[in-house]
Amino acid sequence: MSLVHRPRRNRKSESMRSLVRENIVTPKDLIAPLFVIEGKGKREEILSMPGYARLSLDLIVEEAKALWALGIPCVSLFPALSDSVKDSKATESTNPDGLYQRTIQSLKEAIPEMLVMTDVALDPYSSDGHDGYVDPKTGEILNDESLDILAKMAISQAKAGSDIIGPSDMMDGRVGFIRNALDEEGFSQTSIMSYTAKYASHFYGPFREALDSAPKSGDKKTYQMDYSNSEEAEREAYLDQKEGADILMVKPGLPYLDVISRLKRVSHLPIAAYNVSGEYSMIKAASEKGWLDGEKVMVESLTAFKRAGADMVLTYFAKDMAKLLH
Ligand code: PBG
Repeated sequence: MSLVHRPRRNRKSESMRSLVRENIVTPKDLIAPLFVIEGKGKREEILSMPGYARLSLDLIVEEAKALWALGIPCVSLFPALSDSVKDSKATESTNPDGLYQRTIQSLKEAIPEMLVMTDVALDPYSSDGHDGYVDPKTGEILNDESLDILAKMAISQAKAGSDIIGPSDMMDGRVGFIRNALDEEGFSQTSIMSYTAKYASHFYGPFREALDSAPKSGDKKTYQMDYSNSEEAEREAYLDQKEGADILMVKPGLPYLDVISRLKRVSHLPIAAYNVSGEYSMIKAASEKGWLDGEKVMVESLTAFKRAGADMVLTYFAKDMAKLLH
């Protein structure tokens, strides 16, 4: 056959493939989520996330040091709190001596150059398990009434040393509200990575088990996005950008690569992907059963994020991936 075009020539050996490779993952692309609990020397395995654990503050610092040594530039913190400190107003979220604030401080003291990203939403602190205030009569998730506490949370985290605020609550107008509040308090250098296109997803199951933060009633569909939509993701991106977000995030990750690719095309801001708990658990479970090669599927998945246009990935695989790369 006289074929002019033989795309296989560019695949003929690993050396050739590496020359023409378009996307690679490096530890610098990764953000590692960490779950913090009260106590000392405490490590609680999360059953639905094999290999992942809730760690007490001292162990979080050790873990962050290990991640930093592997070249990972950023951790994203989540607090797992006992029911005794939760209430309908999420009061604990702004406690300057709270577990979350103490953890941020300790991390910044131990590894000043490592970025600490923090989460703004009421669910870990709320007895209702929702991201905003709940109207006790109607069960409605209140938008405007929730903005003040969200901004106070952001300020409290910034005071503790947070480098990047991650509003994950999906209330309308929160990015602008938080940006303004941070600036007024003198935190103009604190970044906002907005959970821009956060879908009402069933892939968050293991995370809600890890934090015991599932909604006590109803679901999150009146604020998180309908997974049937991507036009709407563009609208959210437009608004977040206008309100002052520094980085836009898409969440979940793998089933939403189309949304990542779409936002990458319409926005000049960096795009982050959140490879969420359920995506991690699926690969781990299949790998434990011997049905998939977990390590190879991890590398392929993380590369897919880069190919889709993500500049960074929040992933529970961060440490495993960085270790593999070393
Ligand atoms: C809550 C929050 C959730 C996740 C991150 N922040 C869960 C939710 O919205 O119920 C999910 C992360 C994951 O599944 O890995 N504001």
